[in-house]
Amino acid sequence: VYFGPAALPPAEWHGRTVVVIDVLRACTTIATALFNGARSVIPFDSADEAVTRSKSFERGEVILAGERRMVAIPGFDLGNSPRAFTPNVVEGKTILFTTTNGTAALVAVQGARQVYTAAFVNLSAITGVLRAAYRAGHDLTVVCSGSERQFALEDAVCAGRLLRRLGKRLTTITLNDAARAAMQLERRYARDVGGLIDDATHARSLTDAGLGDDVPVCLALDTCPVIPVYAERQITRAGAGAGRRR
Ligand code: MLT
Repeated sequence: VYFGPAALPPAEWHGRTVVVIDVLRACTTIATALFNGARSVIPFDSADEAVTRSKSFERGEVILAGERRMVAIPGFDLGNSPRAFTPNVVEGKTILFTTTNGTAALVAVQGARQVYTAAFVNLSAITGVLRAAYRAGHDLTVVCSGSERQFALEDAVCAGRLLRRLGKRLTTITLNDAARAAMQLERRYARDVGGLIDDATHARSLTDAGLGDDVPVCLALDTCPVIPVYAERQITRAGAGAGRRR
């Protein structure tokens, strides 16, 4: 586990199976969009890059989405609220997506063997795919996106929950100190993930910005059981999944 892409040693992710976590809110939004029928999500570092790329699509094919300082980017169709990525809005669309931390972490781990995105909303689906990858002999790296380049409690707790579930059937797993710390933190919230609404700084910031309704949506477990896989510069839904869509 690494708390933030900046903590990753150079090339640590090369040849590995990587999971990028951003509970509040990018990876929750990605899982929601794919669950609700989006064709793909393409992450960008900057709004300008997303706008430039949009010109290579028919207007009706794409949605420009993303935030800066939590609010929608001017001229974009959507912000980063998972509640806005409903089936009638995203079905069949390609989402060009840029956020402060989540998409930056994704762009940073290009070159990994396989990259998945995870949040509480798709935790069980990701646990299954990681267990299979580990059993196939892959090393696993979990990157917590963090918030404003800082440690984010909700991402660490989500990483800890992922590891606790993985560890249940994988007794041989070896953990770094950040992974151990994430598992210790997760214990505190094992019966009350909702406690993060008050405790996590970014949850409080979202509430202060009038976006507090997003927080319980992001803390809900397994509401979007998809496996988002990032390959060839786009995130698509792996396999048929267990979802009601597709
Ligand atoms: C991010 O990627 O920085 C977050 O998703 C921020 C947000 O809550 O929009």
